[in-house]
Amino acid sequence: MTKLTCLILIFISLLNVNALIFDRWRVIKPQCRVWDKIAAEMKTAFGGKSCNALATSAIRLSFHDAGTHNQCGSDGSIMIFPVELENANNLQFAKITSFLRSIQNKYPTEGFADIIQFAGILATVLCPGGPKIKFVAGRADATEANDASLLPGLFDTSEKLLKDFDRMGFTPTDLVALLGAHSCGRGTDFIFLPFDQTENKIDSRFYAEVLDEDGPRPGTQRLPSDENVSKDPVTHGTWVKFSQRPLAFKAAYRVKKKKYL
Ligand code: HEM
Repeated sequence: MTKLTCLILIFISLLNVNALIFDRWRVIKPQCRVWDKIAAEMKTAFGGKSCNALATSAIRLSFHDAGTHNQCGSDGSIMIFPVELENANNLQFAKITSFLRSIQNKYPTEGFADIIQFAGILATVLCPGGPKIKFVAGRADATEANDASLLPGLFDTSEKLLKDFDRMGFTPTDLVALLGAHSCGRGTDFIFLPFDQTENKIDSRFYAEVLDEDGPRPGTQRLPSDENVSKDPVTHGTWVKFSQRPLAFKAAYRVKKKKYL
């Protein structure tokens, strides 16, 4: 039975991540149990529900593996071809890639693309406020490197970001929803500050704080790219909606993230 048949339905309760596991697998696809073990190891490394630095880095890595594509799709190239990690956008991934490499060494039946996306999903689900997301295994790993310079940059205009995301197969609303991932993370490069006052939590407060005309709240920073998208007439309305309606944000984030899974 191929990995493609290994459909993994993960409706993980934050309180019961081990259920991820997927009682359903055990009945239907016993050979999928390897993901049970991988999930347990990742959950420990990600600090459970604390949404630690390794977890937020896993969420970002899952985007950077997929974001070099046209019409999206993760292929593991970011961990297979060292040249991608040398790109300025990818310099902060040493710890997470080293951890995921150790997982892949231990479970060599699974490819890098699946492991990267599984880590991104598990981290999202574990982080307080994170939506439940379905994971399906079976991606093909890359045979050549992708162009990491295609990844968006923090000083990009909203016009460029909208164009980049359109190339990846995302609508303007998708772009706004996915940027909500910044609500749980922080800068780890030159400004070591979170992007909102509720770091380590995936929530819509981030959208409200970016809209604040008084600038970033104390102890936080604001990415120019986030501010640009928040002000663009094409995306401003969605940005405001997500700042006021947490459930709308959560639902949109879940649906849109699936696109690059
Ligand atoms: C408009 C496109 C985007 C730009 C320009 C951008 C840029 C950045 C930058 C500059 C950082 C700080 C990096 C550091 O200092 O370590 C960051 C962090 C982060 N980004 Fe993005 N990003 C974008 C889209 C996304 C998307 C679509 C996701 C996921 C769905 C994402 C997830 C994250 C996460 C989770 C962090 C925090 C990482 C950590 O805490 O280690 N970003 N992003």
